[in-house]
Amino acid sequence: MVSHADTADTYQKSCAACHDSGNLNAPKTGDTATWQKLKSQKGMDGLVKSTRQGMPQMPAMGLCKACSDEDFKQLIEYMSK
Ligand code: HEC
Repeated sequence: MVSHADTADTYQKSCAACHDSGNLNAPKTGDTATWQKLKSQKGMDGLVKSTRQGMPQMPAMGLCKACSDEDFKQLIEYMSK
């Protein structure tokens, strides 16, 4: 996954269900302030790690079993904007 279009597409398929609406208290896509706070608390590596391992209300790897850490990093950047 290299291009921005692929990231947007993967986001729609694998993350949007919860992160578009903030469903289940997921940090919302485009809520830059919340994402900045998470990034400064946990660092990008920490956020990639929690995506990979899952969170109390988030399945491990979101819905993207094929994603690499680099893919998750790009998805998180995408959601932060
Ligand atoms: C089934 C709903 C759901 C899906 C699908 C989902 N998430 Fe989440 N995500 C959540 C929720 C809810 C939280 C807030 C933490 C919690 O309560 O589990 C969260 C939190 C996060 C966090 C913050 C982690 C932290 O350490 O605070 C990141 C990063 C994240 N999600 C990335 C992703 C990515 C990338 C995808 C797509 C590949 C994705 N999520 C798909 C529900 C989801």
